[in-house]
Amino acid sequence: MRFWVGCGLFAFLLPVAAECATAPNAEAGKIVFVKCALCHTNEPGKNKIGPSLFGIVGRKSASLPDYNYSEAMKNFHHTWDAKTLDNYLADPRTVVPGTKMIFPGIKDETQRENLIAYLETLK
Ligand code: HEC
Repeated sequence: MRFWVGCGLFAFLLPVAAECATAPNAEAGKIVFVKCALCHTNEPGKNKIGPSLFGIVGRKSASLPDYNYSEAMKNFHHTWDAKTLDNYLADPRTVVPGTKMIFPGIKDETQRENLIAYLETLK
């Protein structure tokens, strides 16, 4: 309900109502992040089972010095931009075969977009 009201207000302020339905929504993405929070924090320097996701957008893969990445992730050699994250989060073990991130992926494109919009706020 809260999102709907927020969206309505947005449409009111900007007379491009269609934009509202498709714009990635970081607030909604924060809820998707609950799935990630089992293994990841959104705080700098705090690793759990997985590395901290603070500042993940624009960060080089496997680049946190205090986290013990798998060989697969060390050999991935990409920067986590929105496109790379979108591919990876749809199906982690296909994009990085052998990763120790045991997560089936997020199949819903809108949920992934919202999640990435949220990840972009972590800086
Ligand atoms: C079951 C635990 C688990 C869950 C749930 C999980 N991850 Fe991970 N994640 C990991 C582990 C472990 C790694 C390290 C992978 C490796 O080294 O192969 C990782 C690595 C990553 C990386 C690469 C980080 C880097 O520094 O290169 C990203 C990006 C990432 N996860 C995003 C997410 C997002 C977003 C979610 C939620 C949709 C998520 N993960 C859910 C365990 C998890």
